[in-house]
Amino acid sequence: MRIVTNAAVALSAALLFALPAQAQTSDKPPANAEVARGQYLAKAADCGACHREVHSGGPAYAGGYVIASPMGDIVAPNITPSKTAGIGTWSFVDFERAMRKGERPDGAKLYPAMPYTDYQGITDADMHALYTYFMQGVQPVDTVAPKTQLPFPFGIRLIMAPWNWLFRSNTPFKASAGLSPQAQRGEYLVQTLGHCGSCHTPRNLLMAETQSKALAGGDVGGWHAPNITGDPISGVGGWSQSEIATYLRNGHVSGKGVAAGGMGEAVDHSLRYMTDPDLAAIAAYLKASKPIRDPAESKPDFAWTDPRPVPLSAYETGDTHDQAAVGDSSTTDGAVLYAGGCASCHGLDGKGTKDGFYPPLVGSSTTGAANPANLVMTILNGVSRQGADARSFMPSFASQMSDAQIAAVANHVLVHFGRPDRSVSANMVADLRNGGPKPLLLKLMPWMFGIGGLIILVGAIAAARRLRARYA
Ligand code: HEC
Ligand code: HEC
Ligand code: HEC
Repeated sequence: MRIVTNAAVALSAALLFALPAQAQTSDKPPANAEVARGQYLAKAADCGACHREVHSGGPAYAGGYVIASPMGDIVAPNITPSKTAGIGTWSFVDFERAMRKGERPDGAKLYPAMPYTDYQGITDADMHALYTYFMQGVQPVDTVAPKTQLPFPFGIRLIMAPWNWLFRSNTPFKASAGLSPQAQRGEYLVQTLGHCGSCHTPRNLLMAETQSKALAGGDVGGWHAPNITGDPISGVGGWSQSEIATYLRNGHVSGKGVAAGGMGEAVDHSLRYMTDPDLAAIAAYLKASKPIRDPAESKPDFAWTDPRPVPLSAYETGDTHDQAAVGDSSTTDGAVLYAGGCASCHGLDGKGTKDGFYPPLVGSSTTGAANPANLVMTILNGVSRQGADARSFMPSFASQMSDAQIAAVANHVLVHFGRPDRSVSANMVADLRNGGPKPLLLKLMPWMFGIGGLIILVGAIAAARRLRARYA
């Protein structure tokens, strides 16, 4: 988002419209109950994060948003009911085919940046409500979104056919037996509309979600979407149900963590609009989901709560609240950089402000994580997110600090406030700046082309010999 956005291919009802946030969109007011339900479902399914929303600039669902996938830029199309630029001429069957099978009415295959493998399980009733909303509740916009042009071989949409055959399920969603009705509702929301697995489930060599490790943690454009299974150490089993629901609604919860990157976008575009019962259902399901433990972990990310005090002498070279130190390209002293760039909000002691508005860096899932990627990504990109409670903003340091400086300040945070057995190198920062480690598939591409080229060459030589033999 930039989920899938900065990222990798992925790539998120009883009180229905009592939510004041609805007033922020210029969608037509719901004409009837079906349209209203569809509008809520579109929020729950996060269609606006990719197809655009009013508050992210531009008319709702008019497309044009560029998803930087590892294969290249994929543009989200216009899905308003415009007959010339959108899906205004599509029947329900056409719409359902795109949503469940990833195919356009002309049969062209969609890339799974559109999360149809998850939407596949949406119930018929919800699918109808979504269609009704897009046809009757969304303003038509007659501007065609730019076309996606991926490099060879990904530009050939037909390559998705075998992929779909391998990885797209055709079976309707069925809730797991043994879960409470509340957790079953949560399971439906997580696995279909919420498409949480598009970020939180690790992907295999061919970039499909590894179902045996559902929700055990995935990488999205430099960010790590953590393990959110019910495991008390590696997952969110140690969060209370209400802490999870609060995190999803507001994007932060004291003593656990903050939602930045794609998760910030999921909160901003989708989760903050959801009803309390639905958020509670999602939380109940995560806690009840099959626990998956990373054997290398022995305590939860948020449990690194013992700050190791910073001797004041560490700051002696720097003027405590001097932003100039950040601009000083010669400084790679983490303590000085922290004092100049971070302490004004997070405190010299890393404990944030008393009201929690500026969060503590001690005892947070970002600074205690086994993988320090999100710490680096937060410093690079900052935080900019609207939650149900408030707006959260932390500046981005990407253009102010070099890779070495970001590594230094991250290491200062890890050693003093977070998980001291982890460290960050300048190379790691450089990698994350460029969207994170590339999936194996892309790393193998040059080899595959090499091998492909060799096969063609050998074939050509063999053919030439045969021709020579025939005409000699
Ligand atoms: C994570 C980003 C993302 C989300 C979330 C998402 N889409 Fe898409 N969608 C895309 C992209 C990207 C494409 C184009 C893919 C391609 O070019 O192959 C697309 C294509 C489509 C198409 C086909 C349009 C056409 O002209 O080809 C429809 C219809 C559609 N999306 C509807 C929806 C609806 C409805 C939702 C919410 C329920 C939704 N999408 C959520 C990214 C997303
Ligand atoms: C676009 C990718 C994306 C989607 C979709 C997404 N997440 Fe996340 N999620 C992330 C990232 C990245 C983080 C880490 C954020 C951070 O630390 O700033 C995260 C963090 C979380 C956390 C906190 C975990 C921890 O240990 O700190 C929870 C809980 C969570 N997500 C639940 C969900 C649920 C439930 C859904 C579906 C409704 C969902 N996420 C959808 C990317 C995503
Ligand atoms: C202008 C104030 C401000 C400055 C300066 C600032 N931050 Fe932040 N930081 C914030 C806010 C606000 C949040 C997000 C709070 C929320 O979402 O509720 C945040 C979040 C974070 C988080 C995520 C915490 C978590 O629990 O997941 C980390 C890590 C972080 N900042 C590190 C830093 C570092 C390192 C620096 C210096 C390079 C820095 N910040 C500078 C205000 C600031």
